Amino acid sequence: MIKVLFVCLGNICRSPMAEGLFLHKVKKADLEGKIEVDSSGTGGWHAGERPDHRMRATASRHKVELPSRARKLILEDFALFDYVIPMDQSNMRDVFSLKGNEQEANAEILLMRQFDPLGKDQDVPDPYYGGQNGFEDVFEMLDRSTEELLAYIREQHGI
Ligand code: 4NP
Repeated sequence: MIKVLFVCLGNICRSPMAEGLFLHKVKKADLEGKIEVDSSGTGGWHAGERPDHRMRATASRHKVELPSRARKLILEDFALFDYVIPMDQSNMRDVFSLKGNEQEANAEILLMRQFDPLGKDQDVPDPYYGGQNGFEDVFEMLDRSTEELLAYIREQHGI
C-alpha cells in the first residue's frame, strides 16, 4: 500500500480538503486498493473535530466528501507514510522539526503546491480567518495540485 498524508496547522481546513480531493481522484482512477490517504495537523487544538463548516460547504458544492476527523501529526507518521505533504512553508518547517533525525523516518516530504502548475511552490494560504472566497480559492489550488500529485505517484510506482 502506498500511504499519503496531507499536513496543515489545525487539520480542519486545508489538509482535510486535500485528503478528500485526493481520495476522490484515487477512487476515480480505481486505485483505492493501492493508495491510502489521511491528513493531520502540526497543532492538536482541534483533535477529534470534523472539518470547518465553511470547508465542508465548499466540498459539498463540488460533490467531494471529507471523511476526516482532526488529529495531530506524530513522529510515527514518518515511518508509516510514504509521502508527507505539508500545505505551506510554515507547516514544512514544523514537519521537519518534529521529524528531527529520526532513523525510521523514510517518508518523502513534498510541498503541496510543488504540484500546482498555476502557482508552483507557493503556500496554500490558511483560509481560517478569512471569508468564504478563501475557501473556494483553496479548493481550486488543491484540485490542481492533487491531480498532479496523483500523476507523480502513479509514475513513481508504475501504477
Ligand atoms: P488549517 O486552518 O491549518 O487549514 O486547518 C486552521 C484551522 C484552525 C486554526 C489554524 C489554522 N487554529 O488556530 O485554530
